[in-house]
Amino acid sequence: MNVLLAGGAGYIGSHTAVELLNSGHDVVIADNYSNSCPEAVRRVEELTGKTVRVYEADVRDHDAVRRIFTENKIDCVIHFAGLKAVGESVEKPVMYYRNNIDTTLTLLECMAEAGVKRIVFSSSATVYGEENEPPYTEEMPRGTCSNPYGWTKAMMEQILEDAAHADPALSVILLRYFNPIGAHASGRIGEDPQGIPNNLMPYVSQVAVGRRDHLTVFGDDYPTPDGTGLRDYIHVVDLAIGHVKAVEYAENHTGAEVFNLGTGTPYSVLEIVNTFRETNQIDVPYEIGPRRAGDLPSSYADAKKAEKILGWKAERNLADMCRDTWKWQSGNPMGYREG
Ligand code: NAD
Ligand code: UD1
Repeated sequence: MNVLLAGGAGYIGSHTAVELLNSGHDVVIADNYSNSCPEAVRRVEELTGKTVRVYEADVRDHDAVRRIFTENKIDCVIHFAGLKAVGESVEKPVMYYRNNIDTTLTLLECMAEAGVKRIVFSSSATVYGEENEPPYTEEMPRGTCSNPYGWTKAMMEQILEDAAHADPALSVILLRYFNPIGAHASGRIGEDPQGIPNNLMPYVSQVAVGRRDHLTVFGDDYPTPDGTGLRDYIHVVDLAIGHVKAVEYAENHTGAEVFNLGTGTPYSVLEIVNTFRETNQIDVPYEIGPRRAGDLPSSYADAKKAEKILGWKAERNLADMCRDTWKWQSGNPMGYREG
């Protein structure tokens, strides 16, 4: 299939591009580089030996997206294009709603004009909200989100479900990611956050490489075995392969369907720190700090539906995630800026 990756130069998009190309699909990328850079796409081409058609474009821009659909016969869209920093979304909610919702609306409108009938969407476990108890299953109702970023995901799921309801020929696949970490095993592509990382693993790896002096563990008084938060960390390459399966499933599917992409096994913050240290034989100094506002004690998937229906299951373990993160971070201490 010919797959348009909106936001495809980013962390998850670039890894998905590699897996799609290696599975024999063609890839077109549209990205405005608001949180990424052309070097990531160059490395996707280097890793696969294949060419990617790239458009520097804002996915909210109808003319730009229309042009992509006119110049390429697109079979399926994967919509990664969004802003994702939770704290920033609390400070700049309108910017988050504008960017995340508008990209979705523009894609749906341009898909309708061009007769494109398949869309795979990057949703998040955050839509389970505060009411549901893990392990989360796909049929649980969406819950109350703790921040505007989370609400954009919940709203976009609703918009996409409504679009599928109105057009019976449409296939909408909502992928709820748990906590993607790790990098391509080559160490050539990986997560390259701008400024101070919000998420745990990039913070750990920046401490290890000497860019930050220590990690603050956000709370050790949760009702969990070691008191620190539990999350379902998933290797980004497993997640990327999940997208290949979703795109292939969408080929003969209509309606809207949700899949969790997680491992089903939670790990604590201290387990992450200790596995990173042991796997890579490198110290990660840390201190215990207060809880972070909005954090849940525990979040993990029931991962059975994706295995049963998509034939997909995460294969990589926590040591693989820590090793590959370090290969990327140690080889690219300043991310793509040294590329
Ligand atoms: P990322 O920031 O690395 O990638 C997003 C890409 O979208 C970037 O390349 C950015 O430049 C681009 N983009 C943003 N707005 C755009 C616009 N208006 N027009 C064109 N391009 C635009 O993030 P990621 O980690 O790869 O996440 C991809 C998607 O998955 C996002 O929608 C994110 O919310 C979602 N998600 C991520 C996580 C995670 O932990 N990384 C978890 C759950 C869901
Ligand atoms: C966060 C977002 C979530 C988003 C996800 C992926 C919040 C409240 N939630 O999830 O909406 O979908 O990122 O982008 O921000 N931790 C530390 N020290 C740190 C960083 C994190 O102890 O410096 C802990 C956290 O308290 C948590 C775990 O590590 O227990 C994972 O945190 P993080 O990587 O930010 O992911 P989430 O909180 O699951």
